[in-house]
Amino acid sequence: MDSLALRRALLAWYDANARALPWRVGPAERRAGVAPDPYRVWLSEVMLQQTTVPHATPYYLGFTRRWPTVVDLAAEIDGELMSAWAGLGYYARARNLLACARAVASEHGGVFPDTEAGLRALPGVGAYTAAAVAAIAFDRPANVVDGNVERVMARLYAVEAPLPAAKDALKRLAAILVADDRPGDWAQALMDLGATVCRPKAPLCDRCPVAGFCEALKTGAPETYPRKTRKADRPRRYGTAWLATRGGEIALVRRPPKGLLGGMLALPTSDWMSAPHEAPPPAPGDWKPIGAVEHVFTHFALTLEVKAAEVDEVESAIWTPLGQAGDGLPSVFLKALRVLARPNLL
Ligand code: ADE
Repeated sequence: MDSLALRRALLAWYDANARALPWRVGPAERRAGVAPDPYRVWLSEVMLQQTTVPHATPYYLGFTRRWPTVVDLAAEIDGELMSAWAGLGYYARARNLLACARAVASEHGGVFPDTEAGLRALPGVGAYTAAAVAAIAFDRPANVVDGNVERVMARLYAVEAPLPAAKDALKRLAAILVADDRPGDWAQALMDLGATVCRPKAPLCDRCPVAGFCEALKTGAPETYPRKTRKADRPRRYGTAWLATRGGEIALVRRPPKGLLGGMLALPTSDWMSAPHEAPPPAPGDWKPIGAVEHVFTHFALTLEVKAAEVDEVESAIWTPLGQAGDGLPSVFLKALRVLARPNLL
């Protein structure tokens, strides 16, 4: 493969087709000497690790409006940040986000380290984030490999080894294409190609600037790459969420700091177990089943039965007006809360 020609083709495509994204300094601006704000690059990369550009964008805009610098973010109290993160998922990341912001503020004078190794040493910054920020914010020739880039490499080189075992091999292939020339643009060009052209299910090969280099295209079935080891089905867990109301208020609780959804606001629930089970409600009352919701976490799927009652008191409750109860609530509980307005019992 002619790496130089491939790089040239993809960078020229990026010059003409780069997506305008709120955290991005586009290729023309970059050429004119505009430097990205490392705080914004870091924040966007952490958010984009859990979700898509359309889902992350309003969060990114909200965060940067409320906390324009890493020092502003570092000064925030945990609960406020966790509430603002609600709906993005993977709440440990929000805690890491704050830990990292505080380290940058207190140990680095509010200035992000400008090397991959320096970034990697920050709390909560993993290999991917360190590489992405080094490349995008500081134009360092770091090898930035996310799922998009893995897919692009698997196709370019028609890699037959299946994911996840092939991860290291794909990373080494990506490394061959990294160079000192425009590393920030290169990382983002690969991401844009993966997101808009070299799409998972229906790649648009007739619009691909590097189709001429693509071994998977030659096989006639590029969409079948990357190969994947069949995943074991997600286990399912079962539980009950309690909508305990008192007048126009509902009982929320704060989850324990560690573990799934740690530190987040929540509805009181039973334990989540591998079989449906009856569990004692958090308060006496005339508990009525009003529906059920489903939610998929990384490691299991959850069926939550939803029961509602008027009650007098719930231990450790944070009584919240019903109209505001959705604010800061993770998606799984938001779904359960919505059953109150719209019972879905069959
Ligand atoms: N996905 C992850 N990081 C991204 C970025 N910087 N631009 C576009 N998509 C991305």
